[in-house]
Amino acid sequence: MKNISFFAALLALPSIALADDAAKAKLMEIGKANFAVCAACHGPEGKGVVMGAMKMGPTMEASKIVNGDPAVLALVLLNGIQKEGAEYIGPMAAMGATMDDEKLAGVMTYVRNSFGNASSVVTAEDAKKFREQWKSMTGPVSRAKLTELGEKK
Ligand code: HEC
Repeated sequence: MKNISFFAALLALPSIALADDAAKAKLMEIGKANFAVCAACHGPEGKGVVMGAMKMGPTMEASKIVNGDPAVLALVLLNGIQKEGAEYIGPMAAMGATMDDEKLAGVMTYVRNSFGNASSVVTAEDAKKFREQWKSMTGPVSRAKLTELGEKK
């Protein structure tokens, strides 16, 4: 019996890895499709759309928010963000109502694993938890809020 469960465990390992790969591929596909909305400001290559001296949005490449604590990234997407003002034509609007948990997870996984980024996958279950975690937060994320969240970690 002992040997059988040992081999069963060995056989299960690669299939778990394959299931993870398939789940990630699906999230990346959903994320890529939904990034079309983001691309209006962040650009299809995630580098940020420039309008004269101003920007529509910042680059996703090597962004601390994109690649850092996924809970903070989720909050930025759910509530929007307005930290600098001057550099950008406008703030980023709240997008929580435009995406279900799977789309939110997909977009998060996509930006964390595109444009030179290689950070962890965010599942729909994670996205659901983040929505619950931030449900009483109102208004866009400010620089003060980001500092507060960074200090808590
Ligand atoms: C209407 C334009 C617009 C759209 C659409 C938009 N954003 Fe933004 N986004 C911005 C602006 C402007 C900022 C910077 C705001 C600031 O820092 O004051 C920003 C900031 C961010 C940041 C923080 C980056 C950093 O390093 O500071 C992330 C992450 C982000 N956006 C992701 C997304 C994703 C993902 C989508 C699509 C679901 C999206 N945005 C849609 C304009 C937009």
